[in-house]
Order: sequence, then C-alpha cells, then structure tokens
Amino acid sequence: MEPRRDPYVTVGEVFVWLLFFALLVPAGIVGWAIGHSTSGRTHTVTRTVTLAASATSATPSVKQSTAAKTTTATAPASTAGSAAKGEAVFVSGGCGSCHTFKPAGARGAIGPDLDTKPAIDAKKAHMPLAAFVRQSIVKPNAYLSPGYPKGVMPQSFAVQLSKMQLTDLVAFITSGK
Ligand code: HEC
Repeated sequence: MEPRRDPYVTVGEVFVWLLFFALLVPAGIVGWAIGHSTSGRTHTVTRTVTLAASATSATPSVKQSTAAKTTTATAPASTAGSAAKGEAVFVSGGCGSCHTFKPAGARGAIGPDLDTKPAIDAKKAHMPLAAFVRQSIVKPNAYLSPGYPKGVMPQSFAVQLSKMQLTDLVAFITSGK
C-alpha cells in the first residue's frame, strides 16, 4: 500500500492554517478574559467559539466548522473536569462498595443510589446538582440523605482527594443528568 499524501500539506493550506492560528490564539485569550470578567464559565466557552468562528471567516467553510468544533470540544474540558478520569477516582475511592451507580457498574447498597438520589436530594437541599454532589463527598454530614445514618460515608475524602480528582469525580457522577 502506497502511503496516502496528506491532502492538507500544500503551501496554500499551511499559510491558511498559520493565519488561522494567528487569529485563533488572540481570539481565545480575549474570549477567556471576557468570560472571566463576567465570571460565567459558560460565557467563556460561548464567546471563545464565536470569536474563533468570526476570526476564521476568511478561510473556507469546511475548515471553519472543524475549527469551531475543536474549540468547543477542548474548552469545557479544562474547566469542568473529566468524567472518564472521575470514573477511575470512583473505583479507586471504593465508592462502589457502598453505592449503586450504573455508569461505574457499582451495586453497593449501604449508601444512596447515585443514579437517582443526588438529583432528588439536591432539590431538597436547594443546591445545584454539582455543588451538592461535591459537598456530599467532602462534607457528608452537611446534608444527610433521608433514611441514611450519619458517619457511614467516610469523612476523609476532602483530604484524600486532590481538587482535580474531586472535580473529575463530580463530573462523573453528574454526567448524563
Ligand atoms: C462506607 C460506605 C460509603 C463509602 C465508601 C462511600 N459512601 Fe457515599 N454515602 C454513604 C452513605 C451511608 C451516605 C448517606 C449519608 C449521607 O448523606 O452522608 C452517602 C452519601 C453520599 C452522597 C450523597 C447522596 C445523596 O443523595 O444525598 C454522595 C454524592 C456520595 N455519598 C458519594 C460518594 C463517593 C463519590 C464515594 C467515593 C469517593 C463515596 N460516596 C463513598 C456511604 C458511603
């Protein structure tokens, strides 16, 4: 089999890409800065994509959509945590020995079912789901799920888990909800 020529490697293409990145990077920084000054994480993402898209308007439309997709896919990952890494934290933390949670294949029955209970309890606690899940892991006694005993959910995760592990774990538990 003869190796296929990479269709993107022509002088014109390289130039267009260089131009594109030269525009994308400042656009990204500006978007980030604007997003942060309004303190909304969602804003950061939206604005970055908008600016990146307008910056590429000089390039062919196929590339523009590729570029916009790349930006959308990478931006939230840096702020919202990785559910895939969170699954590893879930397993190594032994959460599944007490909790049922389908995405992890866990069938523990000592604590609440994490497929359904956090959403219900977050409402009762008047908290957004992610904030509630995070609190439930680092300060389990701040809100006790009705019918479950105090002090069974380990109190040590706040010190055992790094900030990033915690963020990934919360992303895993809240993903798909
Ligand atoms: C020894 C058993 C045990 C282990 C291990 C355990 N939990 Fe729990 N967990 C409980 C019990 C019991 C509760 C209910 C009491 C409470 O709300 O603190 C609970 C509550 C929770 C809640 C709140 C659920 C709700 O609807 O209020 C979350 C979220 C949670 N655990 C996540 C985790 C995660 C993530 C891990 C692993 C890092 C973990 N738990 C490990 C026993 C455990």
